[in-house]
Amino acid sequence: MKFFVDTADVAAIAELNDLGMVDGVTTNPSLILKSGRDILEVTKEICSIVSGPVSAEVVALTADEMIAEGRKLAEIAENITVKVPLTWDGLKTCKVLSAEGRMVNVTLCFSANQALLAAKAGATFISPFIGRLDDINLDGMDLIADIRQIYDNYGFDTQILAASVRTANHVTQCALVGADVMTAPPSVIKSLATHVLTDKGLDQFMKDWAKTGQKIL
Ligand code: G3P
Repeated sequence: MKFFVDTADVAAIAELNDLGMVDGVTTNPSLILKSGRDILEVTKEICSIVSGPVSAEVVALTADEMIAEGRKLAEIAENITVKVPLTWDGLKTCKVLSAEGRMVNVTLCFSANQALLAAKAGATFISPFIGRLDDINLDGMDLIADIRQIYDNYGFDTQILAASVRTANHVTQCALVGADVMTAPPSVIKSLATHVLTDKGLDQFMKDWAKTGQKIL
């Protein structure tokens, strides 16, 4: 499973990228707001760090305007993925930009039928939002599993990019049901390294080592 980082925080992306943990980046208008940066500038900087797909989201609501915005965003770098919302106009935009050979990420997906439409419109990635379904007492992971089965049934090559990933358990479950990619905030990716028994075991090793009175260096 590929790891994308869901942030426009350049320092956090660089830190994870140095460890080989970054296969791509996803951003959205809320994350651009959080960064306090200009969308074109910060996206260009991210693309200079990360060689994998970097999603930059359009903000228009009509297909013609989304297509124009998508083409402008795609000029930033070769690895830009144009992110469009799962609306009828977003699907039209997906079809046009995909036919031009651009990568398109269709976002804000909350149903298997929406994912089916995105695949038929030629999406490179479909972004089902797990956490936001969990928020309303539905099971976000069921949606990932349903899309996996539907795409496999018909051989769609649209990649399932699990989004709104909030916990380490979400990451495990995404890998188990076969998401192609998961995107998560840096804090969630870093949390994957922690385990209470690792901390406890290390603490015991340190105490015992101190008792030996030895040094390695
Ligand atoms: O990738 C989509 C993500 O940014 C949404 O996450 O936690 O706001 O639902 P969240």
